[in-house]
Amino acid sequence: MPRILSGIKPTGKPHLGNYFGMMRPAIEWQDRGEAFYFIADYHALTTVRDPAILREYSRGVALDFLACGLDTAKAVLFRQSDVPQVTELTWILSTITPMPMLENAHAYKDHLAKDLVPNHGLFAYPVLMAADILIYDSDIVPVGKDQKQHVEITRDLAAKMNQTFGDVFKIPEASILPSLATIPGLDGRKMSKSYDNAIELFPEEKALRKKIMGITTDSTPVEAPKNPENSSIVNLYKLFASTKDVERMEADFRAGGMGYGDFKKRLFEAIWEYFEPMRKKRAELEADPKYIDDVLARGAESANKLADATLKRVRNAVGLG
Ligand code: TRP
Repeated sequence: MPRILSGIKPTGKPHLGNYFGMMRPAIEWQDRGEAFYFIADYHALTTVRDPAILREYSRGVALDFLACGLDTAKAVLFRQSDVPQVTELTWILSTITPMPMLENAHAYKDHLAKDLVPNHGLFAYPVLMAADILIYDSDIVPVGKDQKQHVEITRDLAAKMNQTFGDVFKIPEASILPSLATIPGLDGRKMSKSYDNAIELFPEEKALRKKIMGITTDSTPVEAPKNPENSSIVNLYKLFASTKDVERMEADFRAGGMGYGDFKKRLFEAIWEYFEPMRKKRAELEADPKYIDDVLARGAESANKLADATLKRVRNAVGLG
């Protein structure tokens, strides 16, 4: 049985990019191995500065994940910070991490490119992520494309540790859905919290409708034929609608006589309907706060067991204790 591990940062409400890139694949993996999924609140701390917000987002991510089908009979769900051992492993790994490796990491480079001053936590982000993965002896890491580089850094660090100290770590592998094109956001760029172009999973009906109606389009008049290729509306619709419905939308684009507003309405309906059962489940879960507390407490317990064993092995290998 492979051990599967992934994490999601509670820096906001999960959006469609998170869902299709990481949450849904992770939920599918829960049937194929021993799954451990966590809320990466230590990572979120590199940007979130409001404790009440961090708590709220962390719970929100747990709720969304459970509502979308994470099954606690099959997968362990926990908070990263409930396993502080991971910060000790981060330190140990950081002592063998070459600075240039981190200087080349994209989150750090993006920050510099925007003329922002990166904090040390952001710089060390990939080392904490490596510790997350290695401390659970993970085999498979289902992540979105944007996290590929981080998993590669993890593999490099694990190999270097093994070379230096003997066989301490299992070398994990990323699982990235190749068929999944980048999810477009409202403005046509990649969907991302930082671009403020994201569609959350569980907004109010009115808010979702407004967002969808606000998707950027060109100014082709209603009567004119439209190009369905590269249309964010069509590309988002493909994630929710049947092949037949997608083909119908594409044909209607080409035929002309219908405005983008009509297509956006169809997209709204498809998204709303897709999340209907999950919305119901989420409302039920939300009504029982103790349930989430229990899930996370049980998750922490299972994760701690694994982390303790690995850390003991590593401390021993490097000469601590
Ligand atoms: N960096 C990941 C993201 O931004 C979240 C994350 C933290 C993670 N630690 C991880 C993902 C370990 C997979 C494995 O989405």
